[in-house]
Amino acid sequence: MAATIIRNGTIVTAADTYQADVLIEDGIIKQIGLGLTAEGAEIVDATGKYVFPGGVDPHTHLDMPFGGTVTADNFETGTRAAAFGGTTTIIDFCLTDKGKPLSESLRKWHAKAEGKAVIDYSFHLMISEINDAVLAELPSIVQDEGITSFKVFMAYKNVFQADDGTLYRTMLSAKELGAMVMVHAENGDVIEFLVEKALAEGNTDPIYHALTRPSAIEGEATARAAALAELTGARLFVVHVTCAEAVKAIREARTRGVDVWGETCPQYLMLDQSYLALPDFEGAKYVWSPPLREKSHQEVLWNALITGSLQTLGSDQCSFNFKGQKDLGLGDFSKIPNGGPVIEDRFSILYSEGVAKGRLTLNQFVDIVATRNAKLFGLFPRKGTIAVGSDADIVIFDPNAERTISAETHHMNVDYNPFEGIRVSGVPESVMSRGEFVVRNQAYVGTAGSGQFLKRATYKQASGSDSKEKVQQL
Ligand code: URP
Ligand code: ZN
Ligand code: ZN
Ligand code: ZN
Repeated sequence: MAATIIRNGTIVTAADTYQADVLIEDGIIKQIGLGLTAEGAEIVDATGKYVFPGGVDPHTHLDMPFGGTVTADNFETGTRAAAFGGTTTIIDFCLTDKGKPLSESLRKWHAKAEGKAVIDYSFHLMISEINDAVLAELPSIVQDEGITSFKVFMAYKNVFQADDGTLYRTMLSAKELGAMVMVHAENGDVIEFLVEKALAEGNTDPIYHALTRPSAIEGEATARAAALAELTGARLFVVHVTCAEAVKAIREARTRGVDVWGETCPQYLMLDQSYLALPDFEGAKYVWSPPLREKSHQEVLWNALITGSLQTLGSDQCSFNFKGQKDLGLGDFSKIPNGGPVIEDRFSILYSEGVAKGRLTLNQFVDIVATRNAKLFGLFPRKGTIAVGSDADIVIFDPNAERTISAETHHMNVDYNPFEGIRVSGVPESVMSRGEFVVRNQAYVGTAGSGQFLKRATYKQASGSDSKEKVQQL
């Protein structure tokens, strides 16, 4: 592969901002410095641009059966859209079926991604039951398959939900294996009751999705998961945190020394519960679980990101078309498929609302959008930074350009965009995955299937003596 030099850009990592060239060879960052040269190298001028590490999105659902349908974006359309948005690594959730070998589910998920993904990817593994067969499989899934995070749903009763005993036992195993436990934290039993009550009273509109999932029960489930993490000593990651109560539970647990981390998503920072009350069933476009909250929660989430009570931003990409999918819930809000298309706009929204509006420094932005996720999920320093030896996953970002988010121009395979009409500062102009352009001057030049599966380190390997060896080898 010919060498490439990205010339005269401003490199931004989670720690530093400085002017330098980047020399890339064989997909790896080989040198960083001023005035670099290499014979035959292609020169890419980045004057006036930021050179960011590619975004790491720790939370996607591509090609996933859910709510009586399948998400509209598969591994090709979803990862292509991610690349347009500046994301070069995703970690998708592999669903599992009770009573079936975990390895069978993993094979199925690998088959969904192979030949399709245009950027690198990894998987989390859903755990919904603990029995001898599951316990026998987990060590090899962590050590051989490099799947070092498990996901437990505390909601979606009779679909994905696991009970507290299962969560507790998953944590015990995870702790032993050095894997992280992720939770969707809502009280599914209470929600089931509230949903049945609302429907029995004839309350069928999308707004009742939000009204039957109050923030108090997200806070309660978050505190419960944190208490189990405290008991077991496991590392806990709370996905899609939406509200003040859950932030408080995480902050208090961290203050007690519990190993707990939290993610929020652009939708919870930008949109609020009033969207669910839009007329003509438009509210269905804004049905996520947990739901959008009252506006006052947004500032709490921003402050949590700024001060570090929440550490990361995921997209929770889970797209369904308004026509033909969201409308499965016409006349019954509980049948609206939960989720929305966000993979493409996560990076830009955080930059525009965070950096351009003065809430975050450039370095905090890179940490939240890329570095922290790479570190937490065992991909650092290969992913999530611009450093010699790291993969050349790079975004050349024009901070002076602007664009308006719209379904007319987005690249996700879905007929609406929840951020329609929002103007963002900054545009990911060109995006590289392992030294190859996937997007160049805002045009797609990638190849389906060029994305590789990433085996991840356990958090014990990533924080122990093992990781020092890895850094020295680079
Ligand atoms: O509504 C959501 N969040 N859909 C995706 C599935 C999940 O709970 O993360
Ligand atoms: Zn070479
Ligand atoms: Zn969830
Ligand atoms: Zn999700």
